[in-house]
Amino acid sequence: MFKLCVCPGDGIGPEVTKSALAVFETIAKQAGIEYEINEALIGGAAIDATGEPFPEASKVTAMKSDAVFLGAVGGEKWNEMPVSLRPERGLLALRSTLETYANLRPVRMFAGLEDMSPLKADRMKNGIDMVIVRELTGGIYFGARQEGDNVASDEEKYSRKEVTRIAHVAFHTAQTRDKRVTSVDKANVLASSRLWRRVMEEVALEYPDVALDHLYVDNAAMQLIRDPGQFDVMVTNNIFGDILSDEASVLVGSIGLLPSASIGESKALYEPIHGSAPDIAGQGKANPVAAILSMAMLCIHSLKRKDLAEQIEKAVSVVLERGERTGDLMQPGCEIRTTEQLTEAIVREIAK
Ligand code: IPM
Ligand code: MN
Repeated sequence: MFKLCVCPGDGIGPEVTKSALAVFETIAKQAGIEYEINEALIGGAAIDATGEPFPEASKVTAMKSDAVFLGAVGGEKWNEMPVSLRPERGLLALRSTLETYANLRPVRMFAGLEDMSPLKADRMKNGIDMVIVRELTGGIYFGARQEGDNVASDEEKYSRKEVTRIAHVAFHTAQTRDKRVTSVDKANVLASSRLWRRVMEEVALEYPDVALDHLYVDNAAMQLIRDPGQFDVMVTNNIFGDILSDEASVLVGSIGLLPSASIGESKALYEPIHGSAPDIAGQGKANPVAAILSMAMLCIHSLKRKDLAEQIEKAVSVVLERGERTGDLMQPGCEIRTTEQLTEAIVREIAK
């Protein structure tokens, strides 16, 4: 029995989670997969109900599950809370509790969406099909913090163990693709980056079939816009990965398209990379594709059923190419769909 913990969260989180679950249920039924779904509170929704962004009950449910699906967390309403009680803390606590240290963020151009990219067509002549492997449970997000009125600091610290394990994930990922890894750091300035680079080089020796190169993060930010097609797998630390994945997401048309999987030794967490978008919450305007594709990633990494993931991805690309779109992807000749309508179209396509 596959146990899925579902954390809808805040803003558009519950809407896109509903879409993702509709797809999951369709695919599971089709494939004869038995499952059990347990909901858990996280983020602002959890703060409102219990006073904490990641209550003990949610921790227990998450830890008892084979995988966790999360919608999104955060919103204006909780912005004035002390930092330890903000919705984002809940998400960080979840990632760290599950020890899902490797965050995989695939970025790929869908057919028919080329004109939605802010890049000129000739910048994308090599296509866009890459995976950002972001270290997720270390670095400056979790380092020592001091917060005073006149001085404040955040520590960026990495251990050999942390860099080694994320390196293996990057090289393994590359082995399933074009066999190229670009490691992104700031080794010309940061000690933590120099250790990062050394360890990447060492681990690379175990993967003679994979090519490794290095870029400084400022250069990587530029190269992503200059020629995104040059990248296969990009591996980087927590904060650089956060920034570069938002940058990469606009290249393919909308942040509402990008899924993610966070993998650890035994647990896994799936979430769209977009936020809670409180401005459009509850209006049926949210693009469910990122959440739905996160379910496809669940099929690959938790169910070990790449075939089911391909079925979901195919359905998404057929529907988008046909011109059924949410507002973020509107183009001449396309037809507007609500979150629910687009989800239904994708579910119908899967059921075919
Ligand atoms: C993301 C988000 C989170 C992060 C926030 C909400 C804490 O931006 O998943 O990319 O910074 O990791
Ligand atoms: Mn982010």
